[in-house]
Amino acid sequence: MSDQVHIVEVGPRDGLQNEKTFVSVEARVAFIEALLAAGLDTIEVGAFVSPKAIPQMVGSDQVLRAVDHHPDAEFHVLVPNEKGYDAARAAGARVIAVFASASEGFSRANINCSVAESIERFKPVVARAQADGIKVRGYVSCVLGCPYDGEVKPQAVVDVSKVLWDLGCYEVSLGDTIGVGTPTKARQLLRAVAGSVPMAKLAMHFHDTYGQALANLYAGLEEGARVIDSAAGGLGGCPYAPGATGNVGTEDVVYMLEGMGIVTGVDMDRLLAATNTISALIGRPPVSRVASALNASARAK
Ligand code: HMG
Ligand code: MG
Repeated sequence: MSDQVHIVEVGPRDGLQNEKTFVSVEARVAFIEALLAAGLDTIEVGAFVSPKAIPQMVGSDQVLRAVDHHPDAEFHVLVPNEKGYDAARAAGARVIAVFASASEGFSRANINCSVAESIERFKPVVARAQADGIKVRGYVSCVLGCPYDGEVKPQAVVDVSKVLWDLGCYEVSLGDTIGVGTPTKARQLLRAVAGSVPMAKLAMHFHDTYGQALANLYAGLEEGARVIDSAAGGLGGCPYAPGATGNVGTEDVVYMLEGMGIVTGVDMDRLLAATNTISALIGRPPVSRVASALNASARAK
């Protein structure tokens, strides 16, 4: 497994969208700059969604404009509909992410429509993005369980993933939104979806609520998946997924990959510094195990 893995850092969006403390535009920009300095080159920086739904992401246009001068980096923003697309375009977005769900209950709670309706909303967004030369990533949430509907059948994930891929998404990110998956299920799911979307174009977006994320990622790596979404410090959660905690911590992912001989290009000291700064701002220590261990070891010196 000593080939390349692509990390998509989602801390500034997925990480901060659920925080009670509002993190200012300036602090979000500083966080993103610190992540870039640590060697992360693909970062989800904001969301063009309803400010009533996610007030934490207000100012995403300013964030995007402030960081967009990095020529070698790729910045992603969430877009749920054409209104969001207009705003993202106006702010200079070059990569957007549309987000669907494999389960009806989460779709309704998160974006106030059925799965089929959400796809209809995405169609004009993707068509306009393609005409404008904008890359579109597709998310499927609740791939291993739903906070409202419970069990989610792999076929439901396959169906939505295939629709997003056929629409023209360049990559489909499979979200274990509530972190309930276990390695065998994650492996079987990836195998099933890879029948419709090439494995190389699947991302693993695993929340760590039940402490399974690294094990699930390892199973996915064994299957050939090579894109991992993670959040610095293990920040995050989704306001519409009650009880769900953050994404797998980027420090934990980097530590595991480097330990397996997979070069990530991420400078752990700098990443930890970025995590500690944002953690101090939101007033709680990082939940990432590696960040906690490194901080404890630094205190002991
Ligand atoms: P709605 O209420 O059905 O929309 O919300 P609407 O079209 O009826 O509009 C209602 C109001 O929202 C109107 O304003 C619109 O202008 C405004 P008002 O007249 O009341 O003042 N509006 C917007 N404002 C800004 N940007 C927009 C926009 N669209 C409408 N794009 C909607 C539908 C989708 C807008 C709403 O439910 C929403 O914004 N949801 C976003 C929820 C969200 O961001 N969730 C978190 C991200 S998903 C996630 O975390 C999972 C993921 O990480 C993967 C995983 O872990 O599985 C991606
Ligand atoms: Mg997520």
